[in-house]
Amino acid sequence: MKKPSRQGFSTRAIHTGYNDREAKGALNPPLYLSSTFTFKNTREGSGLFAGEGDGHIYSRISNPTLEVLEKRFADLEGAEAAVSFASGMGAITSVLWTFLSAGDEIITDKTLYGCTYAFLQHGLSRFGVKVSCIDLSDPEQLRAAISQQTKIVYFESPVNPNMKLVDIEAISKIAREQGALTIVDNTYCTPYLQQPLALGADMVVHSATKFLSGHGDLIAGLAAGSAENMLRVRMEGLKDMTGAVLDPLSAHQLMRGLKTLSIRMDRHGETAIKIARQLQSHLMVKNVWYPGLDDFAQNDLAERQMRNGGGVIALELVGGFDQATRFMDALCMIKRAVSLGDADSLIQHPASMTHSTYTPEERASHDISESLLRLSVGLEDADDIWKDLEQALAGAKQSLVRAA
Ligand SMILES: Cc1ncc(COP(=O)(O)O)c(C=O)c1O
Repeated sequence: MKKPSRQGFSTRAIHTGYNDREAKGALNPPLYLSSTFTFKNTREGSGLFAGEGDGHIYSRISNPTLEVLEKRFADLEGAEAAVSFASGMGAITSVLWTFLSAGDEIITDKTLYGCTYAFLQHGLSRFGVKVSCIDLSDPEQLRAAISQQTKIVYFESPVNPNMKLVDIEAISKIAREQGALTIVDNTYCTPYLQQPLALGADMVVHSATKFLSGHGDLIAGLAAGSAENMLRVRMEGLKDMTGAVLDPLSAHQLMRGLKTLSIRMDRHGETAIKIARQLQSHLMVKNVWYPGLDDFAQNDLAERQMRNGGGVIALELVGGFDQATRFMDALCMIKRAVSLGDADSLIQHPASMTHSTYTPEERASHDISESLLRLSVGLEDADDIWKDLEQALAGAKQSLVRAA
């Protein structure tokens, strides 16, 4: 018999993991607002606790609404299994607590989302885990640093906030040769733009608060990997260590976001490249970092591992931080807010906001410039986004001229 061909990404983002015939024909998966689940008899309950059968026990471990989301997301990442969490930080901490013990080493890229960095420095390192931060955009640095003590290699690509890329295939290969696990924070790309597991990584983690849900109306996290690793994450990290369980209502809303993920990511990418080019050609803009630009330093790598450059741009203005503040304050439609990946365009200043968890000295040595701005390009019309940026840049230019 001919094997049915695998359905496309958009189709799977809408249908995988749910059979409406098992739910009275409801088009959308039912919302199971139940903390606990009854057992037919004592034997069934004890069996479930012993890992026999596939029913539900208690919603901190699993829940039928979350199960649909997890099956769907695992499929999109090309993973055997996935686990959902109350936030991206819930996903990251649950995964790292599961696989690290005192005496182990975790090697990470030197630039990370601010709260991930804070967790490593203020959390893990206080419990006897050695945290080493190196520049993973140079795989040779990993080859030199990795040892028997290294249990995990962890990074984001693109890196938040400076848009540097890490070669997922090269890093995963070196880590695997040394018996270490590679974990990639795939928040900026989502599985639609980048598939770390297919490139050799062992696990992915996500802030599903961002592009995956896409509408700025919920906080959620996801992790995906082998069935064996995800079972450990669920039964150790999530159940016993963090308890960072996702609520079913947010899971339901997140599945609504997933249904439009591919078209949103195409649109974010199309608009972001236009805006990045327009910013680049403006006199008031000193630097623009966006992986889709022809002169982006890691353009080859971007083409190899990303479908498009994504929806986030990093930039610096002429005149440094003072001008950046004037520019940000002059924006009308684009909102000053942290987070990214929403339908609404958002802008923020990492050094004083998302990356204020680093000391100024740490920011200097971890490649986070004090005048860097992070723009999350939304789904508004590209012309309207540019008009707002242009009028704010014109205001910043006038104040620079007045000051001269
Ligand atoms: C790359 C990245 N990872 C993880 C997180 C944390 O996710 P959450 O805010 O959902 O806890 C963020 C949040 O901004 C992020 O940008």
